[in-house]
This record gives sequence, C-alpha cells and structure tokens, in this order.
Amino acid sequence: MTSNNKPTKTALITGATGLLGRQVVKAFQGLSVPTELSTKASQEWTWDVNGTGFSRADGVNVLKVDLEKEEEVERVLGEVNPQVLVHCAANRFPDKVDADPEGTRLLNVEATRTLAKACASRGILLIYISTDYVFSGKPGEAPYQADAPTCPTNLYGVTKLDGEKAVMEEFSKAGKEGLGVVMRVPVLYGKTEEGRNEESAVNVLLGAVLKAQEGKKVKMDHWALRFPTNTEDVGRVCKDVAIKYLSTSETERASLPRILQMSSEEQYTKYEMCKLFAEILGVSLDNMEANTEGNDPNASVQRPYDCHLSTKALKDIGIDVSTQDFVSWWRRELRAFRH
Ligand SMILES: NC(=O)c1ccc[n+]([C@@H]2O[C@H](COP(=O)([O-])OP(=O)(O)OC[C@H]3O[C@@H](n4cnc5c(N)ncnc54)[C@H](OP(=O)(O)O)[C@@H]3O)[C@@H](O)[C@H]2O)c1
Repeated sequence: MTSNNKPTKTALITGATGLLGRQVVKAFQGLSVPTELSTKASQEWTWDVNGTGFSRADGVNVLKVDLEKEEEVERVLGEVNPQVLVHCAANRFPDKVDADPEGTRLLNVEATRTLAKACASRGILLIYISTDYVFSGKPGEAPYQADAPTCPTNLYGVTKLDGEKAVMEEFSKAGKEGLGVVMRVPVLYGKTEEGRNEESAVNVLLGAVLKAQEGKKVKMDHWALRFPTNTEDVGRVCKDVAIKYLSTSETERASLPRILQMSSEEQYTKYEMCKLFAEILGVSLDNMEANTEGNDPNASVQRPYDCHLSTKALKDIGIDVSTQDFVSWWRRELRAFRH
C-alpha cells in the first residue's frame, strides 16, 4: 500500500533504454495520456516501475541486466518482484541480425525463453513485444488477424516468431497459459534519443529528406505499405493490457487471447512519409526518386509488401486502440526545425 492507500503493482520493462521501452516505462509511470480503461484502474492502483537496459543502462535509473545470463534474470526478478514484465529488449535491426545470427538468437529467442520460464514459475504476467514481420506480407493477404498463419521472410522475423513460440511453450508447460501474452506491433516512430534518429526506421527518413535537399540523388521505396505507430500509443496499450489481464480472475484469464496486435490504421510508403516531412519542413524533394520497383522476383529474401495488423483481438477485450495522428505529431515534433 502507498501513503494514498492505493495498492501498488510493480512493473518491470526490459529494453528500457530503447525506442519503445522508454515510452512503456513512461506509460506505466502515468506520464503519457491515459485512456478511459487505464484512468479507471489508475484510480485504484499505483505503479512502481523499473526498467532494465544493457550498454546504455546507468545502473541507477535503469538497471543493468544482461538478459542472456540466466543468473542475472533470476536476480532482477527476485529483487524487483514484479506482477508484470513487458519484454521490449531485442536485436531488431535486420542488417545487424544478419551480421550476427547466433548473437541475435541468444537475445531474441533464448533470453526470451529464460524470461518466460522464470515469469511462468513465479506467476508473473509477461507481455512479449513482437513484430508484424512474423507475416509474409504478400499482396492480398493483409490485414492479418492475430491467428493468421505466420511466415516470416527474414531472419529477424524468424527469431521474433521463435521468441513468441518460446513464450507460449514455457507458459503452457507451467500451466499458466493466461499469463504469457504476445503483442505484435508494426514499424514504430516517436521520441528518439537526442541526435539518434536512426533509432526508428521512420524518424531516420528525416536524414534522407535533408540529404535530398542538399542536392544528393536519393531513391526511396514507394512500394511497401507501412503503418507507422507511435511508441506512446503502444506504451499506453501495454499498460491497459497489464491492467486487463491482472484484474481478471485466473479462471477467466485463461479465455483471454494470448496473441494481441496493436497498429495505427494510417498507411504510408516510405516515400510518402518523406514527402510529408519535406512539406512540413518547407524543403524541396526534387532530388528524391520514388522507387516503385518492389521485390526482385529472383532475390533470395522477399520483403513484405503489406503486413497490416488487425487490432480486433485488442478491441474484443475492450482495449482502446486509438492512435495519435501521424501528421499532427510530426508537425509538433518538427516545429523547432522550421524556425
Ligand atoms: N522499432 C520498431 O520499428 C519495431 C517494430 C516492430 C517490433 N519491434 C519490437 O519492439 C521491441 C522494442 O524495439 P526498439 O525499437 O525499442 O529496440 P531498440 O531501440 O533497439 O532497443 C533494444 C533494447 O534492447 C536492449 N538490449 C540489447 N541487448 C541486450 C542484452 N543482452 N541484455 C539486455 N538488454 C539488451 C538494449 O539495451 P542497450 O541499448 O542499453 O544496450 C535496448 O534497450 C523489440 O522487441 C522489437 O522487436 C520494434
């Protein structure tokens, strides 16, 4: 109990030094806009929020934990004793994944299994953040329901899908099915660390716009359909999901879905996002060429065309999936650049 007599729940967020994890921490701390559902529960619960990181963790505000080491996972779970763990940490850059498949598997799959096993044995709700890249994204297939057949087209998607399977297996083995939840999200944008737009595959496009403005020829994909989703909205939904699952009785929880998907409904190609940034910044995009070539049918790895995720499973359990407006967010974000 806290001084205001509200029961305290404890949350642990992995990847709290990363793009998404930072916002998930803020959402649980109540520093982002609450929805009706979280507002109600916020009146009943206070959250003690702890984040873990690795190379960027300072050991004070963010705990330093190497998730690949089982003893470190056990130690942090013992010390923090959370009711919910949101697992954001992963190697999510496809080029880095291809350069280090073994290391990626250790983090994206084996560390996830270790966490899932430890959470299941302690009765901790685990929300595992996954990706739309578990689907093939072939034209005509989207929108994908949460139970649609998976078929990742690259190693990153394969390891994230194997992470999902590890979560399902470990919670099933422990007979705690209702506590192991997968949350798939598409490409994310939002607040990056100062000067690190490369943290997001959307924010990084600003660099391409500025390059084109400097007179360099830039080719930009105008084929694959993307649904950029704000990290604050995903953070809010993670908190609402935690509240929903933790406030449901054990028997009823078993009938809640095990796979959830969150996505914005706003569709853009990368070129269209660049065009929008150029308009907001008031700069020319004459040197940027819209590339509509799509996949080379002979290439060994086929890129997904459209992995649009259906949010039906979240809506069915009463979670608010509304998102902030992409254009308005970027107008606010880029205001400083225009003056
Ligand atoms: N970003 C997207 O567009 C996107 C799209 C779909 C799905 N997702 C999923 O969303 C989740 C979050 O992605 P993100 O973009 O926030 O990733 P990110 O910014 O690259 O952050 C990755 C996090 O993992 C931590 N980490 C790396 N190695 C670790 C280790 N050995 N032990 C403990 N922590 C370790 C990093 O810590 P340090 O930096 O301190 O080392 C960092 O906090 C991932 O699961 C990703 O697959 C992301």
